[in-house]
Amino acid sequence: MLRIAALSVVLVMATTVQAQNADAVKQRREAMRAIAQAGGDPFKMMRGEAPFALAPVQGVLKAIEANAPKFKAAFPDDSKTGGGTEATDKVWASKAEFNAIIDKWVADVKAASVSITDEATFKVEYPKLAATCGSCHGSRGGYAPGLGDSFRRMQTPL
Ligand code: HEC
Repeated sequence: MLRIAALSVVLVMATTVQAQNADAVKQRREAMRAIAQAGGDPFKMMRGEAPFALAPVQGVLKAIEANAPKFKAAFPDDSKTGGGTEATDKVWASKAEFNAIIDKWVADVKAASVSITDEATFKVEYPKLAATCGSCHGSRGGYAPGLGDSFRRMQTPL
């Protein structure tokens, strides 16, 4: 009887830990998705595939400012696996460096929301921000898969 009780305590604990993992992974994936979705139109503008408009640019800057801190806070030690995560071990092995990329990203975005006022300033400032994606994604960053693979995941609901 006692052994069964002890066993169920262990099972309950294991379930709780797993639920926490999945929550954190879901939170960070949602935060990244919000940023990537808002970045779709400005990305096309940057490549000359869509006419310039200021509102979508301000939209992605706001999305980064709001979601990057949530993203940063969603990497507890118990979320290295599970929840379909594609974050690599490097996130936890180089946590300070990873967090510093996010802090600089947010600071750059705050500055850009003042300096980008028209198409000319967009063309100068925005590519620098977009390059930050590559500081984490792909073989150069090493924290997450290449952007093409990450974008493909967004077609599957979370
Ligand atoms: C500080 C590092 C970092 C930066 C900067 C960053 N990403 Fe990510 N991104 C990640 C990590 C890590 C994951 C994997 C999260 C997981 O699966 O747990 C991810 C996941 C994603 C995903 C997949 C979301 C899903 O459905 O699971 C997309 C899309 C994405 N990023 C796009 C972008 C774009 C676009 C940018 C630039 C505007 C960007 N990322 C900037 C680290 C970063």
